[in-house]
Order: sequence, then structure tokens, then C-alpha cells
Amino acid sequence: MASANPYLLLVNGPNLNRLGVRKPEVYGNTTLAEIVQRVRAIAARYQVDVVDFQSNHEGFIIDFLQQHGPGAAGLIINPGALAHYGLALRDCLEDIALPTIEVHISNVHRREPFRHHLVLSAVVTGQIVGLGMAGYELAAEQLLSQFMHNMKEG
Ligand code: DQA
Repeated sequence: MASANPYLLLVNGPNLNRLGVRKPEVYGNTTLAEIVQRVRAIAARYQVDVVDFQSNHEGFIIDFLQQHGPGAAGLIINPGALAHYGLALRDCLEDIALPTIEVHISNVHRREPFRHHLVLSAVVTGQIVGLGMAGYELAAEQLLSQFMHNMKEG
């Protein structure tokens, strides 16, 4: 839910609800709940709330972004495999036009060829791949410090 404070969106796509269980040798042992908590802790230092959402369904993610995107300070998104083929999600990100960092826990470029193509690249601000859970934290710091800077500049 959006709140009176500024808020950052944290969206995770298909199968990321399985973090901590799924392929720990690739994705580590941290759960999604722990990631959300870490991002919340960073945002709290900036007095920004976090509105988080995970879904295995592209359309539900689009519904969420259309509802909460307007007015958000920024978006951290790990689209999961939608990164490789999610053209409706791509169009949605272009439409809502938020400062957005795409995060991949694993280095997708070192993995199977189908993971090398990232369809959201041209509609996100930046991408962080292969840094594990730190990717979410770095994305939060970057989006929030930029947001604060923009607020001061007016
Ligand atoms: C992932 C990489 C994707 O290729 C994969 O489908 C995922 C996780 C990552 O965080 O490394 O589900 O987005």
C-alpha cells in the first residue's frame, strides 16, 4: 500500500518467492523476506517506505506497477525470467517511467545463452547483475540518494 511518506517499490518476479530454497549454489541462502527487510532498513534511513510485491504472473506485476508506480520514488525490480522475454512488462516500465534498477542475483551473462538477452535494458535506468543480495542493497542506496538529491534540487 502507498503511504504518506515517499515510497520505493521493490518487485520480484517468477520463482523469487523460492529464494533460500531454490538453487542455493546460484542464488545463495538468503530468503526474499530477508531481502525485503534489508531494503526496508536502508530506506528507513532516508525516511522512505518500501512497498514490496512478488508474483509469478507477469500481468499481476503490471497491475501492481500501474497502481503504485505513479508517485513512487523509484523501483527495484528483479524480473526473474521475465527479464528474458517479458515484453508486456517492458512496455509497462516504459509507460510508468520511474527511476528503475533491474537486479539479477546471478551473473546472467555467465549462464545459459537464453539468459544473456535482457529485454528491459532500454527502459531501465541501470542494471546490477551477479552481485548476489548486495545488488538489491546497492540499488536501494543509489535510487534513494538520487531521489533525495532531486528533492533538494526541487
Ligand atoms: C535471476 C536470473 C534469471 O535468469 C532467472 O530466471 C531468475 C533469477 C537472478 O536474479 O539471477 O529467476 O533474475
